[in-house]
Amino acid sequence: MLLCKEHTHGLLVMKRILLVFILAAAVMYGILHGNLWRNNFYWISFYGQTSSVRASPSYVTSGVTISYNQLPPTAVKRRNALDTCLLKPAFESLLGVDKIYPFLCANDFIRVAEFQGSNKFELPYGIKRAEQFFRLALSRLQNCGLSSEEDSIPCRRCVVVGNGGVLRNKTLGEKIDSYDVIIRMNNGPVIGYEEDVGRRTTFRLSYPESIFSDPIHYDPNTTVVLIVFKPRDLKWLWEILGGQKISTKGFWKKPALNMIYKSSQIRILDPSITRKAAYEWLHFPTRFPKKEKPKHPTTGLIAITLAFHICHEVHLAGFKYDFNDRNSSLHYYGNETMSQMMQETPACLQLRVNSASCCLCQAGLALPSITQCTCAGTGTRRGL
Ligand SMILES: *[C@@H]1O[C@H](CO)[C@@H](O)[C@H](O)[C@H]1NC(C)=O
Ligand SMILES: *[C@@H]1O[C@H](CO)[C@@H](O)[C@H](O)[C@H]1NC(C)=O
Ligand SMILES: *[C@@H]1O[C@H](CO)[C@@H](O)[C@H](O)[C@H]1NC(C)=O
Ligand SMILES: *[C@@H]1O[C@H](CO)[C@@H](O)[C@H](O)[C@H]1NC(C)=O
Repeated sequence: MLLCKEHTHGLLVMKRILLVFILAAAVMYGILHGNLWRNNFYWISFYGQTSSVRASPSYVTSGVTISYNQLPPTAVKRRNALDTCLLKPAFESLLGVDKIYPFLCANDFIRVAEFQGSNKFELPYGIKRAEQFFRLALSRLQNCGLSSEEDSIPCRRCVVVGNGGVLRNKTLGEKIDSYDVIIRMNNGPVIGYEEDVGRRTTFRLSYPESIFSDPIHYDPNTTVVLIVFKPRDLKWLWEILGGQKISTKGFWKKPALNMIYKSSQIRILDPSITRKAAYEWLHFPTRFPKKEKPKHPTTGLIAITLAFHICHEVHLAGFKYDFNDRNSSLHYYGNETMSQMMQETPACLQLRVNSASCCLCQAGLALPSITQCTCAGTGTRRGL
C-alpha cells in the first residue's frame, strides 16, 4: 500500500518535471519563433489596383503584411518607413538554408532534386520520369546562377509586374524601373508601354507557348526563366537551342519556333518553386479526380513565389483585374476587354502566404486550367 502510494507520488513528481520541461520548451519555441518572424517581416504591396477586391486595406498576420495602393496617407507613410531591407529572403530564413538556387544546374540537379524531394514528383512539380529531358535541355545552357549583378546587390528590392489592364495609364513605369529586380512574365511587352510598365526586365518567366519569338522584344539584359510544365517543353528547349527542327506536337498552343535569346540568358526554374506555389500557397490537392483536368499555378503566382526566394522585399504591380467594369482592359496591352475574359475563364486566385491571405485576380497568363476560389467582396469566381 505504502509502496504503491510512494510509487504514485514518484509518478506525480515525474509528471510535474515533465510538465515543466514541456512548458520551458514551449516558451523557448515561442521566443525562437517570434524572432524568426521578426526577421521575416514582409511587405507586399500592390500597385495599379482598382477597387473591385474589397479586402481590408492592410492587415498583418504572422508578420506578413499585405497592403493595397489606396491606403490612407498615414498608412502610406508607414509603408515607406517600413521599406527597410531584410536580412535574408523569406524562404531562406524559414528553411534555415543559406542559399536557395532557384534555377537548375546541369551538374547537380539530380542531387538537388533528391535533397528537396523533387525526385518524387512529376512535372511540373518535380523531375520524376523526366530526368533525361532535363539533362538534355540543361546541356545546352551555360549558366544556372542569378546574374552576378543581381547576386551582388546586398538588399534586393523586387517588383513582380503582372499583365493586368489596371496598369494602363497609371504611368508607373519610372517607379517600376527603380527596383533592383524587375520580374515580368510571358509576352507582356515593354516596347511601346514604357511609361506605364517601365523599360527594364531582369527576369521574364515564360514557357514555350508564351515566350517572345519576335526579335523586336529582344533585351540583352533579361534572363529568361523557363517554367517547365511537361517533358515536351524540355525537348523543345533542347531542339530550339540546337537549331534542330521543332515538332509542335504536344503543345496546347503553337510554341515559339525561333529563339531570340542567347542560351547564356536562359535558365530552367527549379520545379520545387512551382510545387511550393501549388501546394503551400494555393493548397491544390496532390491528386485530382480522373475526370478533372489537373490545375497548375499560373505564371504570375510562380513569379511571386520565385520573388520570395530571391528578394528581400517583394512588391507587386498589375495583378488585379476589374471585374466590375466589363469594358475595362484585360491587359495593359492589346484591346481585349474584361468581358471577353469573363466569357472565357474569369480568374481570381486566393493567395496564402503563411497564414495571411489575399486575393489576386489574373487571367490568361498560363495554362487553361480552372480553379474555384472566393475573394473578399467579389464572390466566387471560376478561374486561374
Ligand atoms: C489612356 O490615356 C489615353 C490618352 O491619354 C486615352 O486616349 C485612353 O483612353 C486612356 N486609356 C484608358 C484605359 O484609360
Ligand atoms: C542593358 O544594360 C546596360 C548596362 O546597364 C545598359 O547600358 C543598356 O542600355 C541596357 N540595354 C537595354 C536594352 O536595356
Ligand atoms: C460598355 O460599352 C458598351 C458599348 O461600348 C456600353 O453600351 C456600356 O454602357 C459600357 N459599359 C460600361 C459599364 O461602361
Ligand atoms: C485592336 O482593335 C483594332 C480594331 O478594332 C484592330 O485593328 C487591332 O488589330 C487590335 N489590336 C490588337 C493588338 O489586337
